[in-house]
Amino acid sequence: MKFKMPELPYAVDALEPSLSAETVTTHYEKHHRKYLDNINKLIVGTAYEDMSLEEIITESFQREVDEGIFNNAAQFWNHNFYWMSLTPTRKSKLSTALTKELEDGFGSIRAFADEFKTQVKKLFGSGYVWLVKDEDGALEILSLKDAECPLVHHKIPLLCCDVWEHAYYLDVKNERERYFENYWSIVNWKFVEKNNKENLYNPEGRVILHEDFMGISRGVNLGFS
Ligand SMILES: [Fe+2]
Repeated sequence: MKFKMPELPYAVDALEPSLSAETVTTHYEKHHRKYLDNINKLIVGTAYEDMSLEEIITESFQREVDEGIFNNAAQFWNHNFYWMSLTPTRKSKLSTALTKELEDGFGSIRAFADEFKTQVKKLFGSGYVWLVKDEDGALEILSLKDAECPLVHHKIPLLCCDVWEHAYYLDVKNERERYFENYWSIVNWKFVEKNNKENLYNPEGRVILHEDFMGISRGVNLGFS
């Protein structure tokens, strides 16, 4: 088995009451693990077998025939990122430097939070809302459908919110705005900060992810061609 399930960076009940142990367990053990199992099976005997996860995502995205490989690889990666975006430490605070960048990008912290919430509410069907940075350092909120992730758009990911119904239905049924409020209370701003400082572009325009991204993407150069 090429890829392995990363360990959650906290106990399954550590995010309560914002996310219940039942939601975290189901999401992690059923949904996340299924994508891992699928991608490990799908790449056997293919050209993707020797690639990094990020290379699989960016290469398969360009080939319609490999849609299944893309969906499962990206979903595995997206979930790795989602769990890291959360923390039981409710005192996780924005640093002065990140606050200034967000104020410069969105006008105010309130405007940034409102825009993020609007995108979470507006996303039709399933997908993710991301805070990303582009090559020029500009911050942007990106709403992407289904499994799509910022890597295929050459954007540096800073934060993500899983807006698939399985992320919240057990806790709040179809009340996505309530899910957002709960999610926002447990965002790991230290992770956002680290992504902002340490996920980089190399001279070829590839994203280099920092080293403690759940032990999976250690300094990997993304295979943008
Ligand atoms: Fe999910």
